[in-house]
Amino acid sequence: MKKKINIEIEVYKSIDELVNMEQELVLKAKSIAKQAYAPHSKFYVGAALLLDNGEIVSGNNQENAAYPSGICAERTAIFYANAQYPKQAIKTLAVAVFTNGEYAEQPVTPCGSCRQVMLESENRYNVPMRVIMIGEKQIYVVNSVKDLLPLSFDSVK
Ligand code: THU
Repeated sequence: MKKKINIEIEVYKSIDELVNMEQELVLKAKSIAKQAYAPHSKFYVGAALLLDNGEIVSGNNQENAAYPSGICAERTAIFYANAQYPKQAIKTLAVAVFTNGEYAEQPVTPCGSCRQVMLESENRYNVPMRVIMIGEKQIYVVNSVKDLLPLSFDSVK
């Protein structure tokens, strides 16, 4: 027997195809990316979150000479949001990269550790998190972190 897992990814050519609130989130992710502290990789990542109460929270990657001590943009933003607004679900997360003097052409797809954290946030609030992965040439959108992390680990059951 075999089991197939289907995931659905919306693909857009431009942010103009997104609703206004999501366009705002994309612009925030792009602007905060430029404020990242990434002297080691020079890969400047920005994440912007839309909370249930309508607030936008953003963060970027923070590196360290002791490499594992650094943290990705998505987790910086999520942990800040969960610390400041523990009752607010994260409805949407947008992520962008600025590197080599320009925004990445292809969508940025969150790393495995971030996906795990995003998934727990989604489960914690029982609200699906829409994830907007920004590239200049195309944008990927999924409606739930489950589409980014099939067969995920969850001990909080
Ligand atoms: N990074 C992020 O901020 N988010 C991701 O999803 C992938 C990687 C950061 C970590 C590190 O500071 C730099 O990008 C290069 O890997």
